[in-house]
Amino acid sequence: MMRWLSEWWAGGTAVVEPASARDARRLAQLHGESFHRGWGEGEFEAMLSERNTLVHRLRVGRLLVGFAVSRMAADEAEILSIAVAASHRGRGLSRNLLLTHLGHLAGRGVRTIFLEVEENNQPARRLYERAGFAVAGRRERYYQQPGGEQLNALLMRRDLS
Ligand SMILES: CC(C)(COP(=O)(O)OP(=O)(O)OC[C@H]1O[C@@H](n2cnc3c(N)ncnc32)[C@H](O)[C@@H]1OP(=O)(O)O)[C@@H](O)C(=O)NCCC(=O)NCCS
Repeated sequence: MMRWLSEWWAGGTAVVEPASARDARRLAQLHGESFHRGWGEGEFEAMLSERNTLVHRLRVGRLLVGFAVSRMAADEAEILSIAVAASHRGRGLSRNLLLTHLGHLAGRGVRTIFLEVEENNQPARRLYERAGFAVAGRRERYYQQPGGEQLNALLMRRDLS
């Protein structure tokens, strides 16, 4: 699709930028829509104020439609959560969100990044693989679903050069 057409379709230009304390409520809302065990507004407020936590927001026009959160320790980081609002999925927006986030982690001196992903989460696995992450381990029955089902987790890793 032509760029202007895809931007119009998405409702404006997609921008990835650092999140601010004022985003906590919307971030909690987005997180709750995307994960079974949502993080509250207070948890986001705390993370947004921590020096070792990096939070980016994905904005389309005036709408906040996604986020990426990482925690850093020395030259390693873990991506704790990444999500795009259901209304804006499937348009490739997560890629720029993740790559921009990784660029900022690299700028903070991070050399190795880890994350966990549910084995059957194809969009997320595809996103991470395309961004250079490789499977580094597998954890059996790691996620407990509300219905009692237990799902496996993959540990993924990417080295930044
Ligand atoms: C994972 C997530 C952030 C991806 O965001 P998105 O903007 O919709 O992703 P994209 O449109 O860039 O699609 C990512 C890839 O998955 C693929 N994909 C999308 N839906 C898919 C599906 N149902 N089955 C298989 N692949 C799928 C896309 O084709 C794309 O791959 P490609 O680049 O090779 O074409 C989003 O789905 C989300 O928020 N999910 C809920 C939260 C979550 O699971 N986060 C990750 C936790 S580890």
